Amino acid sequence: MSNYYSKISGWGMYVPERVLTNHDLAQMVDTSDEWIVTRTGIRERRIAAEGQATVDMSLRATQQALERAGLQADDLDLIILATSTPDYLCPPASSVLQDRLGASRAGAMTLVAGCTGFLYGLITAAQFVQTGAYRHVLVVGGETLSYAMDWTDRNTCVLFGDGAGAVIVSRSDQPGGLQTMMLGSDGSGWDALLLPGIGSITPLTPEVLENKGHKLKMNGRAVFKFATRVMVEAVTQVVTEAGLTMNDIDLLIPHQANERIIDLAIRRLGFDREKVMVNLDRYGNTSAASVPLALCEALDQGRLRPGDRVVMVAFGAGLTYAACLWEWQPEEVSEEPILVTNWPVPESLRETAQQVRTAAWRMQVQARAKASDAAMAIMLPLYTFRKGVKKRLGK
Ligand code: ACO
Repeated sequence: MSNYYSKISGWGMYVPERVLTNHDLAQMVDTSDEWIVTRTGIRERRIAAEGQATVDMSLRATQQALERAGLQADDLDLIILATSTPDYLCPPASSVLQDRLGASRAGAMTLVAGCTGFLYGLITAAQFVQTGAYRHVLVVGGETLSYAMDWTDRNTCVLFGDGAGAVIVSRSDQPGGLQTMMLGSDGSGWDALLLPGIGSITPLTPEVLENKGHKLKMNGRAVFKFATRVMVEAVTQVVTEAGLTMNDIDLLIPHQANERIIDLAIRRLGFDREKVMVNLDRYGNTSAASVPLALCEALDQGRLRPGDRVVMVAFGAGLTYAACLWEWQPEEVSEEPILVTNWPVPESLRETAQQVRTAAWRMQVQARAKASDAAMAIMLPLYTFRKGVKKRLGK
């Protein structure tokens, strides 16, 4: 049993201002809004401005997350930046982010696991805080995929977008946080998603550039098949290992690649569509940024409340995949931190004592959530009414 729990204490997101719609793309390649919407669910995506890179967007998302957590950059012990589109191949983008943040105490690493990178990072961060080694770990998923796109290839350019999402994983004495997890990889599919001309195997030459070796190549059908299979396997594994069923899960946040992949997977899982977070219609596939962007929007929409269980699942280049079951904790806790390891109870009874304490804490959290729901039920109509009046008065 771990000594501590993990908790997401802050979250933030950033997407560039420029919107590229399906109609815009239909002017660029032989495609249509109808094809893209019916085959993928995507309607528009955000594209970074000239000169705007992954660290720029990651910095904006991180600043929001730090603010929400009430922390300073100096409080961070470790920075994990998941990206396949770093500012430079060398140095690591995480070190550039550290410098821009002024997080002088933190270690920094860049994690490359395609679209699964954020979940690999989140699960890694939770290990560091649950063991007590670190107090606050920043996990960012940031991508500037627009620079890796071949804007003449309709097979790929309609799918991707830019953005960044960040969370702070903090050490906590309150039960919750990461419950179960799995990290997967099927390296036999390494060439299904590939930037063939960037790396030590292919020195950059004028021929590589001419053949667009620096642009993303994808075997869409292979990825589609892989994705639907591993999403089902990974979600089933983390839910079953927690001793739960799909009905016990309050929210599913899948990697936002294609609505058809999500629909097929949840049908196979027997998962309620109402409890699935989807925002790919507005952002497309933002790779490592996709899960944190969806998480941030789910939180802003009030779709995740204290005590809720959320499953996050992703797949991507590698071919990698991962899932975790996370129990959401309240933003503020009233009780004093008490560690069972410090209690004057015999070693043999500690596990039972911890379980009793966890059950009591859950009841407290649920009561608090109900009270907050009741308050929201009163406040929301008032707020909407006020907003409507202001709008009508042009304020
Ligand atoms: N507009 C119009 N027609 C198109 C377009 C387009 N943008 N793209 C492809 N087509 C055509 C194809 O050329 C093909 O024509 P053909 O039959 O004459 O050859 C036809 O549409 C059907 O193509 P399919 O590949 O069978 O289309 P499918 O229904 O499989 O959809 C898609 C393609 C959307 C790419 C799908 O396979 C998919 O989403 N795959 C997963 C991709 C993915 O998630 N990648 C990201 C992984 S995560 C990461 O790490 C980056």
